[in-house]
Amino acid sequence: MDHFLYRYGTLFAEDVPISEIAAAVGTPFYVYSTATLLRHYRAFDEALSGMDHLVCYAMKANSNQAVLRTLAQAGAGMDVVSQGEYLRAKAAGVPGDRIVFSGVGKTAEEICVALEGGIRQFNVESEPEMEVLNAVAIELGKVAPITVRVNPDVDAKTHAKIATGKSENKFGIPIARAREVYAMAASLPGLQVIGIDVHIGSQLTDLAPFELAYQKVAELTKQLRSDGHTITRLDLGGGLGIPYYASNEAPPLPSDYGAMVERTLGHLGCEIEIEPGRLIAGNAGLMVSKVIYVKSGEGRDFLILDGAMNDLIRPAMYDAHHDIVPVVEPAPGTEKQPYDIVGPVCESGDTFAKQRDMVPLAAGDLVAFRSAGAYGAVMASEYNSRALIPEVLVHGDQFAVIRPRPTFDEMINRDTIPSWLEAHTAT
Ligand code: LLP
Repeated sequence: MDHFLYRYGTLFAEDVPISEIAAAVGTPFYVYSTATLLRHYRAFDEALSGMDHLVCYAMKANSNQAVLRTLAQAGAGMDVVSQGEYLRAKAAGVPGDRIVFSGVGKTAEEICVALEGGIRQFNVESEPEMEVLNAVAIELGKVAPITVRVNPDVDAKTHAKIATGKSENKFGIPIARAREVYAMAASLPGLQVIGIDVHIGSQLTDLAPFELAYQKVAELTKQLRSDGHTITRLDLGGGLGIPYYASNEAPPLPSDYGAMVERTLGHLGCEIEIEPGRLIAGNAGLMVSKVIYVKSGEGRDFLILDGAMNDLIRPAMYDAHHDIVPVVEPAPGTEKQPYDIVGPVCESGDTFAKQRDMVPLAAGDLVAFRSAGAYGAVMASEYNSRALIPEVLVHGDQFAVIRPRPTFDEMINRDTIPSWLEAHTAT
């Protein structure tokens, strides 16, 4: 459930009409709901309440400082994958001992920043990374707590670009080699083995692949313990999907997921960590856009919006479906018609939906893309020199711009001119 509902014939974000935000900040923009973010975080926290646990929000989904602060103040830890994310988490007030560092390509510099600033654990993904981590830790006179990310070779049955748990993916070390890699880790004085990490993919709509992976982790925990390792923490990654297709997709609830975790891993007495991103932020955000033109094409009508693929890349990149709804609530029984819904960017890939049934719309009408709170603003670019769109956070009847739209001067002045071009002006 989210807090974007029609009231008095118009779409609201909590207690604020979307049209009021549009009038204040202009379109397009992202808007997030505090109540929805917190509701989703708490759903996970409660689902795991029978076990010692920490929910580490995967901030790659939405790393705005205000979003991070909202979740951090509720008690969330963070899963980070870069120095930038680490520094963002710290800036939002997350203590180092609540930050886990994931990712296949951590550099020595990133490792150094995290070790010096404080870290809960590194999820190590390869032997060369282990060697670098060991060397940096020794140089700093520290011991780095680690888990090793194992690749369980499980088919997550999700889009190929966001599946990570098959042997052909670049992630983790093959579970079959885990004992050997843990033996190496134990021999390195700069590392302290504390657990196991696994993450098999994103937007999973079925619990079965998770369960299969976690069963393999349970087995590995026993093996590693019998090899003499201390395994006290299991990081289970993120990946639980959300209903993008409001009508026909019903991914499992966090409570079902929690019960499955307890069933497969509860007996091991480990502290459980999870790293949900999409399920916390996805349905807590909308992208709101305005119809610029309605254009009649060859056998089809186009809704040309002021939002484009550079603002929300998911449809172009993953063929993702986002529900698109009019901000003014249609009268019951209004007949729908099919539209191709596109942005102004100069390529045909800038298409949000083809032949989508919508109530008739006209230039100037506002539409809202649902499920846009995760992997929306964070994946935006300035392609076609379009400004990054503003982000707004709603809290009850209040709203605030949490990232303003840059001016064109700001965008242009970020470039610098080399000396050899300065002297001449175009003739
Ligand atoms: N932990 C790790 C190690 C991850 O790689 C990811 C996501 C997560 C947690 C969070 O997964 P979530 O709960 O959000 O599914 N840009 C794509 C999604 C990429 C996901 C990458 N890793 C999209 O828009 O669908």
